[in-house]
Amino acid sequence: MKTTKSQQSIVSMIAVALIAWHILCIPAWAATASHTEFKPGEIWTDTSGAPINAHGGGILYHDKVYYWYGEIKSGKTWLPEINRSWGGTRVETTGIACYSSQDLYNWKYEGNVLPAVQDDPNHELHKSKVMERPKVLYNAATKQFVLWMHVDSQDYALSHAGVATSSSPKGPFRYVGSFRPDGAMSRDMTVFMDEDGKAYLFHASENNATMHISLLTDDYLKPSGRFVRVFEGRSMEAPAVFKHQGRYYLMASGCTGWAPNEARSAVADSIWGPWKELDNPCRGPEAEVTFRGQSTYVLPVADKPGTFILMADRWNQNDLPDSRYLWLPVTFTDKGFEVHWQTTWRLNN
Ligand code: GAL
Repeated sequence: MKTTKSQQSIVSMIAVALIAWHILCIPAWAATASHTEFKPGEIWTDTSGAPINAHGGGILYHDKVYYWYGEIKSGKTWLPEINRSWGGTRVETTGIACYSSQDLYNWKYEGNVLPAVQDDPNHELHKSKVMERPKVLYNAATKQFVLWMHVDSQDYALSHAGVATSSSPKGPFRYVGSFRPDGAMSRDMTVFMDEDGKAYLFHASENNATMHISLLTDDYLKPSGRFVRVFEGRSMEAPAVFKHQGRYYLMASGCTGWAPNEARSAVADSIWGPWKELDNPCRGPEAEVTFRGQSTYVLPVADKPGTFILMADRWNQNDLPDSRYLWLPVTFTDKGFEVHWQTTWRLNN
C-alpha cells in the first residue's frame, strides 16, 4: 500500500513519541516499581526509588498505617580516636527518619522528623553526638506520639535515654530531654506497650552488663520509678520485645559493637519476670551470627494474629549508610520462637 507524505510524517512522529516515552518514562517507572516481597539484605528502595534510610528502627501502627522510624545514616563513615579500642565507627548524626506504609513492602519517606542540631556543639542532639534506636509509642490519653531513643556522647559515656513528642506520627517531634532512667546508665533500648496500655522501657544498663525493664509513667514521658534488673551480667544489647498468647518474648544480641554475634532469646509469663533465657532463635546459614544482623524490633502484623516479623540491621561498620535490613518471619515452638533465614518471602494472604 502506498502511503502519502503526511501519513509517513504522522507515523514517524508517533515512532519518535513512542521512543521518547520509552526513554523518559520506563526508568522512572522501574525506579518506583512497587515491591511485592521482602528480600533480606538487598537494597530496599522507598516509593521515590531512594534506598530506605531508617536503621536501628521500630514501627508504630496507627490508624491503619505503619510508620517506620529509624536512624538516618548518611555521609562519610569514620573511626573517632576515642572509640578506636572497640571499633566504634560513626557518621555525623542527621536525625530520625519516618516512612509510612500500608502493606509493609512499599514505604513512603515522610521526612527527617527529629533533625540533629547543627550549630550548638553543647546540645545533646548536636550532629557530633549519638541518636540511636528510635521507637515511637502513641499515648491514647494525651494523644501524643512519644519517641524514645538512645542519646549519647560520641564515646557513649553519657548513656542516656531521650524523649521527644509530636501531635502527629509524621512529626515534627519536639525534643523534651534525656536522662539516666531510674538513675541508671542506658544505651541500647526499646519500648513495649502492653495490651493494658502500660508501656515499658527495656534498656542495656550497668555499662551494658545488665538489662533494666522500667515501667513508664501513664503519659509515657518518664520512668515511673518501678523497674527490675534482668539477665544480670549477660551483656545483652539490641532488645526487641513482643507478646504472643499471653507470653512475653525477647530477642537481643550479645555486646560486640557493630560486629554481629549470636542472638539471644528469652520468654516470661509476666513482664517483670522471671525471664527464662532460651537458645539462639536463628536457623539457617550464618545463624550463629544472626545472619550477619542485629535485632532492632519485632513487629506484630496487624489483623494477622500470630504473625510477627523480626526487623534486624545488617550493619556495614566501614560504610554505615550501606547497612541493610533483614526482615524475617518469626515462628513459635513449644519452648519459644525461631527465625528461619529466607532469601525472599511474603506474608500469607
Ligand atoms: C552496637 C549497638 C548499636 C550501636 C553500635 C555502636 O552494639 O547495638 O546500636 O550503638 O554498637 O558501635
